[in-house]
Amino acid sequence: MKNKFSDVTISRNPLPKRSAEEIKELVDKLMSKMTLAEKIGQMYEIGHSSSAITGPEFDSNQTVQRIKDGLAGSVLGMYDNNVIYALQKCAVEDSRLGIPLLFCNDIIHGCRTMFPHNLAMSCTWEPNLIYEASKVSAYESSHSGVNLTFSPMLDLVRDPRWGRVMESSGEDPYLASVMAKAYVEGYQQDLLSYDSVASCAKHFVGYGAALAGREYNTVDISKRALHQYYLPSFKSAIDSGTKMVMTAFNVVNDVPMTANKEMLRDVLRNQLGFKGVVISDFTSSMEITHHKIAKDMKEVAKKCVIAGLDHEMISTSYIDYLEELVKEKAVDPKLIDEACHRVLTLKYELGLFDNPYKNVYFDFENYWLGEAAKASSLKVALESAVLLKNEKNALPLKQNEKIALIGPLAKSKEVVGAWGGKCNVNDSSVLYDALVEEGHDVSYAYGCDYNSSDKSHFAEALEVAGAADTIVLAIGEQQHMSGEANARSNIKLPGVQEELINELKKLGKKLIVVLFTGRPLDLTGVIDQIDGLLCAWFLGTQSGIALEKLLYGKANPSGKLTMTFPYTVGQVPIFYNNLNTGRPLNKVYFDHYTTRYLDIPNTPLFPFGFGLSYSKFEYSNLRVSKKTLSPNEKIIVSVDVKNVSKVAGKEIVELYIEATCFSVSRPNLELKGFKKIELDIAQTETIEFEIDQQMLAYYNIDMQNITEPGLYNIYVGPSSIDLLKETIESVN
Ligand code: GLC
Repeated sequence: MKNKFSDVTISRNPLPKRSAEEIKELVDKLMSKMTLAEKIGQMYEIGHSSSAITGPEFDSNQTVQRIKDGLAGSVLGMYDNNVIYALQKCAVEDSRLGIPLLFCNDIIHGCRTMFPHNLAMSCTWEPNLIYEASKVSAYESSHSGVNLTFSPMLDLVRDPRWGRVMESSGEDPYLASVMAKAYVEGYQQDLLSYDSVASCAKHFVGYGAALAGREYNTVDISKRALHQYYLPSFKSAIDSGTKMVMTAFNVVNDVPMTANKEMLRDVLRNQLGFKGVVISDFTSSMEITHHKIAKDMKEVAKKCVIAGLDHEMISTSYIDYLEELVKEKAVDPKLIDEACHRVLTLKYELGLFDNPYKNVYFDFENYWLGEAAKASSLKVALESAVLLKNEKNALPLKQNEKIALIGPLAKSKEVVGAWGGKCNVNDSSVLYDALVEEGHDVSYAYGCDYNSSDKSHFAEALEVAGAADTIVLAIGEQQHMSGEANARSNIKLPGVQEELINELKKLGKKLIVVLFTGRPLDLTGVIDQIDGLLCAWFLGTQSGIALEKLLYGKANPSGKLTMTFPYTVGQVPIFYNNLNTGRPLNKVYFDHYTTRYLDIPNTPLFPFGFGLSYSKFEYSNLRVSKKTLSPNEKIIVSVDVKNVSKVAGKEIVELYIEATCFSVSRPNLELKGFKKIELDIAQTETIEFEIDQQMLAYYNIDMQNITEPGLYNIYVGPSSIDLLKETIESVN
């Protein structure tokens, strides 16, 4: 990229460390000089282009003037470091007080070196890998103009129709909480360093519960479900020091989150202890008019600032009306002061007052796609893929097998998934190329489009397959069929892909599917035709290289599902930690009147926690150190895991509990621990988990998060459907 400022040298000197008290004094002093309008200016995030999404929210020509007038506190989505430098220079040199801007971007699973999307990475069940991916993303982002990233996305998800499941860590609150910590710490290592970025926990809260999986739809969550399932990952991010929280588009208790005082002040601030900046989502403040709780933008400004929104993204209700509202005494100026104080504090914590250009690098390409970054991306990719079926050891492929590689993803570079940061898909390694480069005997046919009724390529695919030993289908979704505003009512393989499978299977050859997807899909119609099924998600820059290693056994799949694959979309929402109901299937008092469907089973196609390996592991000898758990004590749960195969491999050992009978109905299973181990051939390892009373706690009938005395079943195993059982009693 042409560097318009080639004569500019930016200091990279260490930034001064200050205590919270010192920063507070500096902010107080600065605010004493600020006008009301300038304080309000710090509460506004200006966009990078006028929005076609929800109406032209601003005229981009006003950008510079607003910055000069001190009416912008941050900038959304600017990628060009020349422009970032120019806008920052304008703020620092041309505005009255020279307050630096905060540059924010959506870097959620990689900046230029792309990692697998977040749902895929959660299937590693390895927080160290999430930390590593976040650290690499932070390094590349902080060397290309980014001060803060709008990540991690912490929405609990139970509905694969919703396109944004690909950004999440799945359906379990405990696992999502573990990953939340890893993301925040990976991004923020040291905010004054030149390698870190501030993080933003989003979308607070409940966005993943959009009814029917329809994007931006209404959310209706019980108070207990909110606290038990949807808030824990945010608490984890806050306890890990995240600097920003973004409000969700949806309502909770029928009040839009962006203007939800109970959730933003009582829950987020007072209960969860968040002290950082609360930012709206893209025009979500204006959208409370569509939610019909504000009649105009002046009322938007009033309701949002009273609710506790500190920083308004794109919409301009704050800079247009807050000053007037304060003068009318309709808004307490203290609310402006507290919001502005938080924004300025964050800028000091990032060192932007000492070096406004700290993250501007005109040679940013030099910091991208390093060998170490690509190696890290490959490592994460290898552990994100999930082997879902492997009949008669269809996989791994043998070096001498003649392969027919067929499908729209076989030669595609579009393997990074939605929210691709600053990526260029041309960086992506391609499955076909990787197979050829590794000397495999591979022929190719397109087979069919992602999502059309065109079968004109079937004949060629059948011909190429007819000449091969094994058919490998690279199929699934196009990468932008998931992500924001990409809900699907039908989650089958799109287009004519199922028909292609059926036609190819008639050849009677081994058929492998490499499934590219941003969400769990409904594969029931074709699963019987498939001998080996590897869920490849979208594995990022190293996709092709990773898949070649996994398909040929150079790497052993170890991923396990963090989100249920339904038997069909008719089961959705379906998730492992469901309640027992009053007429459970296994207690059939009436041969008809029990919880089930007339036409499909209750069980999913592939359950939470499930994933195969080329190894085979046996679990035995589950035992507990004692049967009674007293306050402030621990019980050690032990299990022996043996690798009974001839292939070394990694195994994720999962610990669940079942509360037997208490003041509220509790799930049949609750994940409370997991460990990823590596076992050599014939190796046995004893895995231990510690259980204390806090782990057994739940929001009881009075909404107290306590551990009720009684019997708890303890389960350990390779997935949520394959478990050894013990029982303990918790006593007061
Ligand atoms: C989008 C998304 C949010 C993102 C923001 C800024 O609409 O909902 O996740 O961070 O706008 O791009």
